Amino acid sequence: MLLVEANRDIFQPLASGRRYAEIGVYRGAYTRGVKACQPSHMFLIDPWRPADISALVPSDYVGDPVAPLLETFTPYYPSGLERALEVAYQEVCAEFGADKNCNIMRATSAQACDKFAQGSIDVLYIDGNHRYDFALADLERWSSKVAVSGQIILNDCYVSPIGKRQHISVLEAVSTFIKLTDWRPVALVNRPFTDVVLTREANLKSASTIMKKLFLMRAASFIELPSALIHAVAHKVLRVEAPDKSFLREYLSFGE
Ligand SMILES: C[S@@+](CC[C@H](N)C(=O)[O-])C[C@H]1O[C@@H](n2cnc3c(N)ncnc32)[C@H](O)[C@@H]1O
Repeated sequence: MLLVEANRDIFQPLASGRRYAEIGVYRGAYTRGVKACQPSHMFLIDPWRPADISALVPSDYVGDPVAPLLETFTPYYPSGLERALEVAYQEVCAEFGADKNCNIMRATSAQACDKFAQGSIDVLYIDGNHRYDFALADLERWSSKVAVSGQIILNDCYVSPIGKRQHISVLEAVSTFIKLTDWRPVALVNRPFTDVVLTREANLKSASTIMKKLFLMRAASFIELPSALIHAVAHKVLRVEAPDKSFLREYLSFGE
């Protein structure tokens, strides 16, 4: 597993000339960078409608389930989430809708999944509902849709106080998923809201070589770590407040 000092966009060229699907698009900020890499096709999947609050809070959550979410979200969406998502949908349609190689699917991940054949996607970006059971269900239901040589990228694979308030458990879902399947982490970025790239175990070596080429092209520093450390590494990333080259020393002394 390669830990790279870079922003998440370093993985976008993986979609170049390939079939790309994004679950959870919002205003298309990530999609824009992917499009610049010229994928052969893009599928943009998002209901652009707010989920019921019960879909965001774990059923076994102790305490007031709603207040921490509102505290986090309200400043972002002063005129309300429903309005913000509708505006985001209109923006995405205006920016990507005319592209014949782009399908905008206004649907939840679960609703859209059945429309895809096995192996019909090369790069899947998962950034929808971040609660544990939803993130794990996304991995389980979509992984067979990804071609044998394909990759899954997950956003927000991290642990932090802000993540806890939002019930973000993508990293925990990834940990479960890699224990149960032949999918393995091949690379991650050393940023808060970490992106992690998964590949099937049989392709680990070739995927690792591709990653190193991407990193070289951007002159990005990286180190290699046992993939079993994924949880600990992504947690520790957040302790590096101003990432610079010194983060390498911190990781190399991991385990103190
Ligand atoms: C963090 S935003 C996505 C940001 C975008 N990927 C980017 O990087 O710019 C999360 C989006 O996930 C969508 N979402 C929430 N639940 C979803 C679900 N079950 N299926 C698909 N999308 C979902 C929300 O509507 C929201 O637009």
